[in-house]
Amino acid sequence: MKVVSIIPLIQQLGRRAFINQKVSQVRHCSLLGCNLQDNRANLHPLWKGEIDVPGGSRQSPINIRIRDSVFHPQLAPVHTQYDPNTCLHIWNNGYSFFVEFDDSTDKSIVSGGPLENPFRLKQFHFHWGRNNDWGSEHTVDSRVFPAELHLVHWNCSKYRTFEEAIMEPNGLAVIGVFLKIGKQHEKLQKLVDILPSVRYKDALTEFNYFDASCLLPSCVDYWTYSGSLTTPPLTESVTWIIMKKPIEVDHSQLAVFRSLLFTAVGEEEKYMVDNFRPLQPIMNRTVHSSFEPALQISHKKKSEEHRQQAG
Ligand SMILES: *[C@@H]1O[C@H](CO)[C@@H](O)[C@H](O)[C@H]1NC(C)=O
Ligand SMILES: *[C@@H]1O[C@H](CO)[C@@H](O)[C@H](O)[C@H]1NC(C)=O
Ligand SMILES: [Zn+2]
Repeated sequence: MKVVSIIPLIQQLGRRAFINQKVSQVRHCSLLGCNLQDNRANLHPLWKGEIDVPGGSRQSPINIRIRDSVFHPQLAPVHTQYDPNTCLHIWNNGYSFFVEFDDSTDKSIVSGGPLENPFRLKQFHFHWGRNNDWGSEHTVDSRVFPAELHLVHWNCSKYRTFEEAIMEPNGLAVIGVFLKIGKQHEKLQKLVDILPSVRYKDALTEFNYFDASCLLPSCVDYWTYSGSLTTPPLTESVTWIIMKKPIEVDHSQLAVFRSLLFTAVGEEEKYMVDNFRPLQPIMNRTVHSSFEPALQISHKKKSEEHRQQAG
């Protein structure tokens, strides 16, 4: 019985790593999130107290500025090879819901792109807002999406376990996918249908035979940069791969995400919404793109915007 794998990451390493940090809990006002409560008393327990990353220089999430990203022609598409049989269960950890996979073999892996060797799929989860105006962790030219999917993988070529890998600079690879409102996502619906059974914190239910690659956009373009986990212990261990194109979900699917609770049975109910970390400074980092940015188009747009502002 793999008891360890069902203990939340944040509980495994959280307390030890809750080190002094002045994390600004308010999103930058240009990001529509200014209405978010900045009252510390209303913060999720995950972010309570003083938490810090001493000397942190590669924290996540960040705003990706398309104009500043550098096209890297050697960046091949990322290749996922997931075995739906490795999908184990889904559970509410009091901050998001995790779909967890059996990572004792190389049956579900990601390779290619910026990764020199395969990484094993451990879990995926989402971050989302209380409404459609915000919710994603990363932003693109300050555009915020209603939700963001994270597929979390660990470097199994050197490290023996996920827990070991998350403390190492090249231990993790996370694929980020933006969600936008559009048509219903049929494959996601299998997951949405089971969510009511993990409404409360700590609830866990079996969830089998799910191929997470159905949640990737068909466009293979992505940005990649070196960053961190966006939940404690916030270790700087992540090679981020952020897919350029969002996937579409409909409003009713996100409504089910928002009907989950941060709280356990018997506690005063708090809806699971706004479970994202604020943007972090990019500092001395370069975001690489696997695709050539359409520079001319964006220049043209810019000058049109300027004309409009002038007029
Ligand atoms: C995986 O870890 C090993 C050992 O630290 C490292 O040499 C390798 O570069 C890592 N893989 C990636 C893709 O970062
Ligand atoms: C910034 O990164 C570049 C390239 O990796 C490095 O040469 C330089 O020393 C870094 N500067 C600082 C202030 O860390
Ligand atoms: Zn995440």
